[in-house]
Amino acid sequence: MKKQIVLLPGDGIGTEVMDSAKEVLNAIADEFNHTFTFSTYDIGGVAIDKHGTPLPDETTAACKEADAVLLGAVGGPKWDNNPSHLRPERGLLGIRKELGLFANLRPIKGFPTLLHASPLKEHVVDGSDLLIVRELTGGLYFGTPSERQNDGQSVVDTLAYTRKEIERIVDKGFQCAQLRRKKLTSVDKANVLESSKLWREVVEEKKAQYPDVTVEHVLVDAAAMKLITNPAQFDVMVTENMFGDILSDEASVLTGSLGMLPSASLREDSFGLYEPVHGSAPDIAGQGIANPLAMILSAALMLKHSFHLENEANLVESAVKAVLDEGYHTADLNILGNGQKVGTEKMTELVVQFIKAESATKSIQSC
Ligand code: NAD
Ligand code: IPM
Ligand code: MN
Repeated sequence: MKKQIVLLPGDGIGTEVMDSAKEVLNAIADEFNHTFTFSTYDIGGVAIDKHGTPLPDETTAACKEADAVLLGAVGGPKWDNNPSHLRPERGLLGIRKELGLFANLRPIKGFPTLLHASPLKEHVVDGSDLLIVRELTGGLYFGTPSERQNDGQSVVDTLAYTRKEIERIVDKGFQCAQLRRKKLTSVDKANVLESSKLWREVVEEKKAQYPDVTVEHVLVDAAAMKLITNPAQFDVMVTENMFGDILSDEASVLTGSLGMLPSASLREDSFGLYEPVHGSAPDIAGQGIANPLAMILSAALMLKHSFHLENEANLVESAVKAVLDEGYHTADLNILGNGQKVGTEKMTELVVQFIKAESATKSIQSC
């Protein structure tokens, strides 16, 4: 299979973990006889520095031509005081909107070896396996441009959704639930927000179309509590943009680290942009210690969702599991006992080694 992949490493650890994903994909291409062609473009802070904008036109154009896109992370203190239109984060929001990526899938499934790496009690984390389906191109992030009014003494941010925007993400939530344990939790703030009332109305209307799925509504504040007191109760959680952003970082503690969470940003066809949930981690950038697994697992999601390469995706996931099972971990994972702490490059090398060894075993067996 021949695929053209655009890489958007971005800033901070984004560039470090992108190298890891590329190495893993190269190993997969070698072992399975695929041709993955990579082209790298600027986004975020690096694009501001080089092109004067966080999202250059050539980046957008290249993404539109590609079969799929991998994104590292954007942002950093260097650009924190820039005016809003010159912030790295604008590049990320821009590319999501330009590509129509309204559905962000954030699977949260801990690896068994990492149960004790979570600050939560093991029996709480045990059995948790959920998917946050986050609306990605609406809500507060894309309201009427925020303004300062009244001589800078008041501010306005708007939370806008159309019925159509809610319908398509709620459909996605139901469809994901149908492929999993058939339970959908819709998270909103319908006791206060008009947008949430419409959201809840849409979920209620849609549920007749998905009779095999059990639906519940949970207010976002309670959802935040339930997520860390009894996470195993959740299967698919569908929610609006900002609630999903916050809840997914919270949910990452179930896995032991934010550095473990991958995501897929999708639209209706098989095209997608794949990005770790974490950011550019300026506190550890440049030290070679970032956890590359969220990025590597995002590449696995790309293999699965955009290229329908299930075996290849499963091999990447098994490689990650095997390396963790052997006790290797990056510094962000709080491993007790006999674990061995490694940096980004070593972790990547171990994953690649496993992929190569596993494929070699398979080809011997099939002779
Ligand atoms: P962050 O996710 O970058 O970091 C939060 C904490 O988690 C830090 O202590 C960091 O060291 C740690 N961490 C995150 N990923 C890690 C990894 N792979 N390995 C090891 N440790 C990891 O969030 P932040 O510090 O709030 O934001 C930093 C910058 O990143 C900001 O400019 C923000 O806007 C941006 N950001 C970008 C994205 C994105 O590009 N998708 C996502 C979130 C934040
Ligand atoms: C994420 C990030 C982004 C978001 C920021 C950097 C704009 O936090 O991908 O989770 O809020 O969507
Ligand atoms: Mn976030």
